[in-house]
Amino acid sequence: MRATAIAQPNIALIKYWGKRDVVRNLPAVGSISITLSELQTQMSVDLDTDLPGDVLLVNGGEEPRFLPRISACLNDLLGEQRSFARISSHSNFPMAAGLASSASAFSALTMAAAGAADLSLSTRELARIAGRASGSAARSLYGGFVELKNDGDSIELESLMDAESWPLQVVLAITDTGRKETGSTEAMEISRKTSPFYDDWIVRQATDLDAARTAIEQRDFAGLAAIAEHNCLKMHSIMWASRPPIVYWKAATMRCLQTVRRLQGEGRSVFFTIDAGPQVKAVCLPEDTEVVREALSTTPGVKQVMTSGLGAGARLVKKT
Ligand code: DP6
Repeated sequence: MRATAIAQPNIALIKYWGKRDVVRNLPAVGSISITLSELQTQMSVDLDTDLPGDVLLVNGGEEPRFLPRISACLNDLLGEQRSFARISSHSNFPMAAGLASSASAFSALTMAAAGAADLSLSTRELARIAGRASGSAARSLYGGFVELKNDGDSIELESLMDAESWPLQVVLAITDTGRKETGSTEAMEISRKTSPFYDDWIVRQATDLDAARTAIEQRDFAGLAAIAEHNCLKMHSIMWASRPPIVYWKAATMRCLQTVRRLQGEGRSVFFTIDAGPQVKAVCLPEDTEVVREALSTTPGVKQVMTSGLGAGARLVKKT
């Protein structure tokens, strides 16, 4: 009745932005991501309790704010007649600041809860359940390069390549550790309802996915860099043109982009991507990691820099 799972966040190179079905949390577009190795969330679920309601501890402290989504995910997985759970989560990176904490949290939660309840579900089924809680979480059930396809009435996941086959590095530049003002769920709906660029984004996503898939297959770094930066800036353009506008960037976010441009001008293999937050993720080839890390950590306004390789999908580490 107790189990612990570990999952790593993933960073989308071709982004999920917008929902086709809000109730079932089906994404409006497919996406491609890389799962990280060094950032992680460890999640323990204890179903053997006589608690009057679910209890959630995040890094040792109670966090009732996140509880409704966690409880809903457990109901989805275990049914509403389940016993209440004690859930304890530890992450080694800042939460709710655009570092994909919901992806590692919900993928680890789904796997730990299924383990605690002794359910034997496939990775694909667990991914679908995690994805209903948070779209990007479905991808963290898998390692390396992962595609989430949105065709049909549910999502389909495909592992495009394992982490070892193309060992890219990611340097994460933290420009702000505060919690973001608008969560991605809400921001996506504002974009869908008000952004003049939203429909065009949906139509063009298939072309971007094709280009990224080909670049990954061929280990074409320049090709992947071009399509990932384009897709990222397109997603932020949708947000900037929404009403009210959604602007996650800080001044230091822009400075990091300029640092990446300078490094590219010096012949370094690096590109940027930015999610629903002000942090910049610089993806690079292993030989350029140190130079990228040094350049981003000395960029004004950068508070912290973390480096990660690519890693494995969510896994169960303990079951009692
Ligand atoms: C910008 O997965 O957090 O990181 O399904 O509403 O929980 P919900 O959204 P979420 O959105 C992630 C958005 C993104 C792009 C991406 O990861 O693909």
